[in-house]
Amino acid sequence: MTDAIASQDEEGLNTGPAAYVFDAYGTLFDVHAAVRRHADAIGPDAAAFSDLWRVKQLEYTWVTSLMGQYRDFQALTEDALDFCLARYPAVKPAVRADLLEAYKRLDCFAEVPSVLGALRETGAKIAILSNGTPRMLDEAVDAAGIGHLIDDIFSVDALKIYKTAPSAYALVTSTYRIATPDIAFQSSNRWDIAGAKAFGFRCHWINRSGAPDEYAEFAPDEIFPSLDGLLPKRA
Ligand code: LAC
Repeated sequence: MTDAIASQDEEGLNTGPAAYVFDAYGTLFDVHAAVRRHADAIGPDAAAFSDLWRVKQLEYTWVTSLMGQYRDFQALTEDALDFCLARYPAVKPAVRADLLEAYKRLDCFAEVPSVLGALRETGAKIAILSNGTPRMLDEAVDAAGIGHLIDDIFSVDALKIYKTAPSAYALVTSTYRIATPDIAFQSSNRWDIAGAKAFGFRCHWINRSGAPDEYAEFAPDEIFPSLDGLLPKRA
């Protein structure tokens, strides 16, 4: 339940979303920050290593969910890292603990605090909806110092199924009594935008990497290069 209302003009007409819901990894937090911090220890394959870590982490979410199974996101993140260490045997296994520690304290993207602060001032709810475990998300939010800007953190761990299951997105609507078109959902992950659009949210794809579009039947309402695109345009 929430008393959130959309920002309103003087006549009480809605002028913006009643809630802004953000994906966590890749959208608020830079998943490549962990490898970047230990790039010297990993060596010349650091960028490819980081990409593979992310790809495998996500693959494991979809495969386990389709099987009707569940291992939490911390476990899948570790499984994916172990695959990367096996794939790149020149990388010393001793870096494993350092990378997992760094993953708890990923950098948030530079614009995150100011954008969340500005959106919160409209009266809209600010929330995270993520595959991460509650513990992972609490640690990441604390490390980034953005806890005071976030009203709610929704973790799929409560359901034991990963995005893009509709029930994952319904975590938000089962708490916020807000119609889906009045909920703005932001993700840098195009597959996540497809899932959120299929569910009915108003979707903003934060295309940080300049990736080509896909999932044409589940198109975002708008595409921005960073979260700054959510802010009102200056006259
Ligand atoms: C998340 C991942 C999938 O935060 O980016 O849900």
